[in-house]
Amino acid sequence: MSATVTPLAEAPRPQAAASVALAWFDGGLVPADGLQAGLTTHAMHYGSGVFEGIRAYALDDGGAAVFRLPEHLERMRRGAEMFGLPFDPAQATAAVLATLRANGHRDAYIRPLAWFGEGSFGLDVEGHVPHLMVATTATQVHLNGSRARLGVSNWRRNPSDSLPPLKLCGGYVNSILAKREAKARGFDEALFTDRDGLVVECTGANVFMVRDGRLTAVAHGDSLDGITRDTLLRLTGAEARPVPLAELLEADEVFACGTAAEVAPVAQIEDRQYGDNPVTRELQALYARVVRGREAAWRHWLTEV
Ligand SMILES: Cc1ncc(COP(=O)(O)O)c(C=O)c1O
Repeated sequence: MSATVTPLAEAPRPQAAASVALAWFDGGLVPADGLQAGLTTHAMHYGSGVFEGIRAYALDDGGAAVFRLPEHLERMRRGAEMFGLPFDPAQATAAVLATLRANGHRDAYIRPLAWFGEGSFGLDVEGHVPHLMVATTATQVHLNGSRARLGVSNWRRNPSDSLPPLKLCGGYVNSILAKREAKARGFDEALFTDRDGLVVECTGANVFMVRDGRLTAVAHGDSLDGITRDTLLRLTGAEARPVPLAELLEADEVFACGTAAEVAPVAQIEDRQYGDNPVTRELQALYARVVRGREAAWRHWLTEV
């Protein structure tokens, strides 16, 4: 028996997108669907890239603003530095704003990515061409804005003394494995715990709980220092401390938070179901007001487009 092999020349090609969005790539705006990566792209083989997930929101005055752009780009700069990737936050700021304007996006998800491209097949990043791109899409809602059901992952989060909790591309293999496992078990999302039973985070979001009216942010050295988590801590003055899984299961409310997820109520962890979530709903509403510039005290977090 022999396998049927489709000659490369006859292999189906993906259809071109109906409308060509613009992306910023290495210094200017180009049609996004014209971009290609070379076969020796270092980041594709070894994960040597760093990215951000950022959001822009439409404002009531008809404009739009990016939420906490300098903080996102500073985290990206720290990630780039680990790889020795050149990264200039001022240039990235200009690129983000130019891409949003060019695409006419107001409510948008923004994805900057810096990476090592073409060179040899070797592991050493020296001699590989560094690239920077910024793509924007109309807002995507992580966890579908619904109440999430979490499965406790059998995978451990990358320990921070092996891989720093920054948005390094290769680090997300760990999230992919956990997400796949959670979905195969019928859950929406995975919850990482460490060997001591302490909660770490979800695959792309941090975790909070409410117990007896008290709001607590999960603190763990292996979790990403989330900007949404920081936002909620500043808005509420909540405590941040290590939280055992057993305590999370006893909480009245649990939610995940992140730039894409915003404030996402958790309906279930394994077979523990959570009921009504009034505090989470209040925080969802507060967060929505802040990111849309409706809270004067926090408008300094907005960079107008
Ligand atoms: C692993 C991980 N944890 C937490 C977060 C939340 O971080 P932020 O609020 O900065 O988006 C993210 C978001 O990208 C993430 O990837």
